[in-house]
Amino acid sequence: MDLTNSVVWFAIALVSTIAVITKIARARTVVDPVCNKPPPPVKPPPPVVSGGSLIRLLHTFLTKGLRAMIHEQYTQLGSVFTISFFGQKVTFLIGPEVLGHFYQGVDSEISHGNTLEFTVPMFGKEVIYGVDSATRYEQNRFYSNALKPPKLRNHADPMIQEVEDYFSKWDQQGTVDLKWELAQLLMLISSRCLLGREVREKMFKEVYTLFHELSDNGLRLTSVLFPYAPILANYRRDRAHAKLSEMFTKITDVLQNLMDSNYKDSRPTTEAEVIGLIMNLMFAGMHTSSAASTWTGVCLLSHERWLRAVIEEQNKIVLKHGDHVDFNALMEMDALHRCIKETLRMHPPTATVFRKVHTNFTVQTREGYEYEIPSGHIVVSPIHFNSNLPYIYKDPDEYDPDRFGLGREEDRVGGKFSYTAFSGGRHACIGEAYAYMQIKVIWSHLLRNFEFKLVSPFPDTDQSKLALEPKGKVMVQYKRLAACV
Ligand code: HEM
Repeated sequence: MDLTNSVVWFAIALVSTIAVITKIARARTVVDPVCNKPPPPVKPPPPVVSGGSLIRLLHTFLTKGLRAMIHEQYTQLGSVFTISFFGQKVTFLIGPEVLGHFYQGVDSEISHGNTLEFTVPMFGKEVIYGVDSATRYEQNRFYSNALKPPKLRNHADPMIQEVEDYFSKWDQQGTVDLKWELAQLLMLISSRCLLGREVREKMFKEVYTLFHELSDNGLRLTSVLFPYAPILANYRRDRAHAKLSEMFTKITDVLQNLMDSNYKDSRPTTEAEVIGLIMNLMFAGMHTSSAASTWTGVCLLSHERWLRAVIEEQNKIVLKHGDHVDFNALMEMDALHRCIKETLRMHPPTATVFRKVHTNFTVQTREGYEYEIPSGHIVVSPIHFNSNLPYIYKDPDEYDPDRFGLGREEDRVGGKFSYTAFSGGRHACIGEAYAYMQIKVIWSHLLRNFEFKLVSPFPDTDQSKLALEPKGKVMVQYKRLAACV
């Protein structure tokens, strides 16, 4: 991390922490309804980093980055520790042993709180973080229904068609920025599969521009921290929301599923709800999938052994299924699946997930220490750190997709929450199967039709983005193979 970056990061860290803390501190805390006071702690609270240690911690963060900072505290204090900053307590949970309640606790005890309030003006107050948790739970059920396996099967052919069309426009050989190419392609796939053929064919350019305007402005630091302030970014975000809403009133597909959905009390979804839900779904899937598919390419092109293994698998698939790959063939791409999974272990697009504690809970570390995490704390599961613990993953810095193979299964041996690239428990990613299918469609096509060489050096991670993508351009040389599929 160079000095300029460090200063920028320090400023961002400071401003965001203070603002998030202030907001969260103002949020309502759930209290015992009988005595009107939180119950007294039974176990000791986690060790706290404060005072002089806090200055050392900030120094490590600024000079070496977040992962090094967590590592330092983890080695000194163990797998549960609290950072106290301007009165707000942020507790880090390291390792699957202490993550059970984080992922599985009910929303009344532990939830996203108002940490995602900035999404309300982006997608509307009728959906997700604009509504109470019971309604949100039902809305997530609509998503699951729209993306469950039988429906997923229907997405395979349109995805394959989009991918074939996109790469048919590439020359015989050339050099491209893989990151840019895949971001374009993923937007086309999302429009086709989530919004429907009509949008894809007639309004793609407009949707693409508006969607970027919505997310670029909605995700600016100023908009995240002050989502309702009268500033230009918020004005642009709201304008994009209004225009997209107008366009989305005309469309079908996954949208149709959401339109046909009913709440438990039989109330059908309203137009504003359907529009907000689809915007949220596209947003949840776009940046993460784009980062994931680029990282997958970077990892494969940098590891000859695995590149050969997935190409061999593709050859076998073609021998068995013929040239046209379909849903069943995609489900048989085990080596490619493991390579994607390993990529996401090492480069999780969502690096960290947060919750707010409403009711005290206890955790037990693998060394047997018990701590009570008090209500009011923000708890953090640093996915990128937890996916690299050497007592769970052998040689975690090695790209080794076989660690998920039969007999090793390192993601299971370590317990339920050892692999959390797609989160887990109550808020597990609803689009996981869809995301895998999408990345497999892209990379199986590319590997069957082109030869690649990574021209750029192995990229660093761009920490400034919401979904952690490779930093800068990812230049690759490609050459079309003789027999195209
Ligand atoms: C490689 C790609 C992806 C990754 C790494 C990823 C990761 C995640 C993670 C970590 C969460 C949980 C956040 C939390 O616990 O607070 C999440 C939630 C979610 N994801 Fe994904 N995601 C991906 C792709 C997708 C796609 C393609 C879709 C939709 C088509 C999608 C839809 C969602 C939704 C709706 C949620 C919210 C679930 C809830 O709050 O209950 N994701 N995702």
